Amino acid sequence: MIKNKNAIITGGARGIGKEIARTLAENGANIAINYRNFNDEIKAFVEELNSMGAKVLTFKCDVSNEEEVEAFVNEVKNVFGSIDILVNNAGITKDGLLIRMSEKDFSDVIDVNLKGTFNMTKAVSSIMVRQRFGKIINISSVVGVAGNAGQCNYAASKAGVIGFSKSIARELASRNINVNVIAPGYINTDMTKVLPDRVKEEVLKTIPMKKIGEPREIANLALFLSSDLSNYITGQVINVDGGMVMH
Ligand code: NAI
Repeated sequence: MIKNKNAIITGGARGIGKEIARTLAENGANIAINYRNFNDEIKAFVEELNSMGAKVLTFKCDVSNEEEVEAFVNEVKNVFGSIDILVNNAGITKDGLLIRMSEKDFSDVIDVNLKGTFNMTKAVSSIMVRQRFGKIINISSVVGVAGNAGQCNYAASKAGVIGFSKSIARELASRNINVNVIAPGYINTDMTKVLPDRVKEEVLKTIPMKKIGEPREIANLALFLSSDLSNYITGQVINVDGGMVMH
């Protein structure tokens, strides 16, 4: 399905991004991931992916920095020859109620989640346009669809990712490039582990399936959207959330 395709997964060294990288590699793709600080976990992960037969490229890159993004994307193009799949997964939270939120906390989250997605997509799409092929998958959140008290910066960034994706899906459709959005619900990663038990219990009450999602459940959809099975799907937002938000 995606054998020998070359994929970039931002934030692919941990959490949901790591599971997407693992799943795409299991299905024959080569993997490029960025990191902020190289560590033993990343080293072990590269070995794991190599043992599956995947070529792996790691690169230090902050997605909110346009120059670093260009250097990363150029390196992937030079080493792999093409870029077939882009998963914009890198994201951060800096939660707080509006009245207490600093301008910096608002801007930081927009810079990584929304501008980072713009930077990466701009750099990669010019390569995909020349190839006349590409699969772009942007990770939003149910919070970007439904909103969430205490997360106005995060919700704005994730809603922004949806509007951005629908717009470029229209721009790139004639070039055989699909752009889709995954909106995860509550998924078991480092990002959510830090939430207090009280918050987790409240969240569980809002999930019809009464359980927290696993990164593999997001990765399975990313695999489908990376593959030929989804060729006639573009500009869509697909929730993976146990029924938390229904359109
Ligand atoms: P995580 O915190 O475990 O991983 C985030 C990754 O993004 C890390 O690898 C980190 O190094 C990278 N990253 C952060 N800032 C970066 C920057 N400036 N430049 C490059 N890379 C950067 O988070 P998790 O849970 O795996 O989330 C992944 C994505 O899924 C995020 O976009 C998040 O907003 C989204 N999401 C997560 C949900 C959850 O319940 N865990 C729910 C809905 C969406």
